[in-house]
Amino acid sequence: MTLKIACIGAGYVGGPTMAMIAHKCKDIEVTVLDINEERIAAWNSDKLPIYEPGLEEVVFACRGKTLFFSTECEKKVAEADIVFISVNTPTKTRGVGAGYAADMTYWEGAARMIAKVSHSPKIIVEKSTVPVKTAQAVERVLSNNVLNDGARFDILSNPEFLAEGTAIKDLENPDRVIIGGRQTPSGLKAIQTLKDVYAQWVPEEQILTSNLWSSELAKLAANAFLAQRISSINSISALCEKTGADVSEIAKCIGADSRIGPKFLNASVGFGGSCFQKDILNMVYICKGLGLEEIARYWESVVTINNLQKRRFVDIVISSLFNTVRGKKIAILGFAFKKDTGDTRETPAIDVCNGLLDEGADLAVYDPQVTEERMKTDLSLDKFEWDHPYTQRKAKEVEDHIECCDSVYKACEGAHAVCILTEWDEFKTLDLKKIYDSMVKPAFIFDGRNVVDGKHAKEVGFVFYGLGKPLDPFLTDPSSPCSP
Ligand code: UDX
Ligand code: ADP
Repeated sequence: MTLKIACIGAGYVGGPTMAMIAHKCKDIEVTVLDINEERIAAWNSDKLPIYEPGLEEVVFACRGKTLFFSTECEKKVAEADIVFISVNTPTKTRGVGAGYAADMTYWEGAARMIAKVSHSPKIIVEKSTVPVKTAQAVERVLSNNVLNDGARFDILSNPEFLAEGTAIKDLENPDRVIIGGRQTPSGLKAIQTLKDVYAQWVPEEQILTSNLWSSELAKLAANAFLAQRISSINSISALCEKTGADVSEIAKCIGADSRIGPKFLNASVGFGGSCFQKDILNMVYICKGLGLEEIARYWESVVTINNLQKRRFVDIVISSLFNTVRGKKIAILGFAFKKDTGDTRETPAIDVCNGLLDEGADLAVYDPQVTEERMKTDLSLDKFEWDHPYTQRKAKEVEDHIECCDSVYKACEGAHAVCILTEWDEFKTLDLKKIYDSMVKPAFIFDGRNVVDGKHAKEVGFVFYGLGKPLDPFLTDPSSPCSP
């Protein structure tokens, strides 16, 4: 009999992960489910709802054969042997734990639905990131709501470590797969069943098994460690600007130590994405609930430094532009939270743009993947509302002060300054002379991702700020002349 997998939630995690399972396992029927009809329609169309290099090839190769997208959630869950839950777990915006705790509304809804429709044994897999001990809550919801005698559930934790932009590569060739479960005969059997799925393409020694709580916490801890590295190098970037050291040189020097390693040491205007901040704040909330106040404060400081980095960038732009940006056109190059994705969740661009808008700037934004509607919605939402698709507010004065451009050169025309907020490859090869000639003088570049050749920019005539690089004398002493 063909093994049937259903995945509740056709988002950034559920969609690509299930596509890879369907792609690699020809003997498994995989159905990805969502209550959002528009999203499912997009997954069934030529234009997939998310941009991810290599995703189209994988989906188009197995859609309609081993991979299906559907809104028939109850029917497909009832038929499945393994049910992945991959719904959103946004940070709560109100009530107890607001701003820190994960909102488990969508999760609980999915668990109750599973209990209602199941009439056969199933393995339930936590795929999206959840607070530690979620499995216990899911077990309780399931066991107290089951309607049919034949239903029985084993809960597994199988956190996803894919990074956006490299999701397909990460899924095809993961550093490791973690499967946590109850250490009981039936829990161990469930672990083995899921292990057999991954073993179809992942070497066995890279499939790590553990107890449920280790697996749940490993995901939060991994994201916290990665984010901590970025905040660490970003804190050093501030020090570099004050001392004349160069953060890229520092990253190279410390990354050469094999105990530290070279990855995740790129100083930036701040980390973004749907996971880092959310997971750290969630961990902070858990620590506080367990009376671990100092540990909560330690991890919260990673987010504090990230917020400081974005604020620092805005302050440098404003002070360099003679302490006022009111009515000045500023080109924003890049809005996505990193290159090769159209995702804007928690992108540092939101805070930087809001900081500049608060000071009265007019922004001309260019991003190769982010739509105008997305940018304008993002800039009119309050913090954390972005991840609550059903509570979005309408755009307000944003309309009057944001222009979305379809080219870098259009965004820069007539601008006083250019801010680079995403490291898109195309920003590495810009015609800086053409941009300079079209701008108001003195013309500034604020490179929040260190993608532009600063030496060349200065030769062209720009006042150039590179994050964590020695400061242009013009920026420390506005009475000094521009570079050339
Ligand atoms: C992250 C984790 O990497 C992944 O394992 C987890 O499953 C989900 O969260 P993602 O958010 O997609 O993935 O992107 P990631 O590549 O980790 O980057 C996150 C943010 O950090 C981006 O804004 C990126 O620009 C920034 N970053 C990353 C830096 O500023 N400097 C770096 O050196 C690396
Ligand atoms: P992630 O980045 O974790 O994949 P997304 O927000 O991209 O998160 O995707 C989560 C998806 O889960 C959304 O498309 C949402 O509509 C869907 N979802 C939430 N609750 C349910 C539910 N009870 N049944 C089916 N789909 C759901």
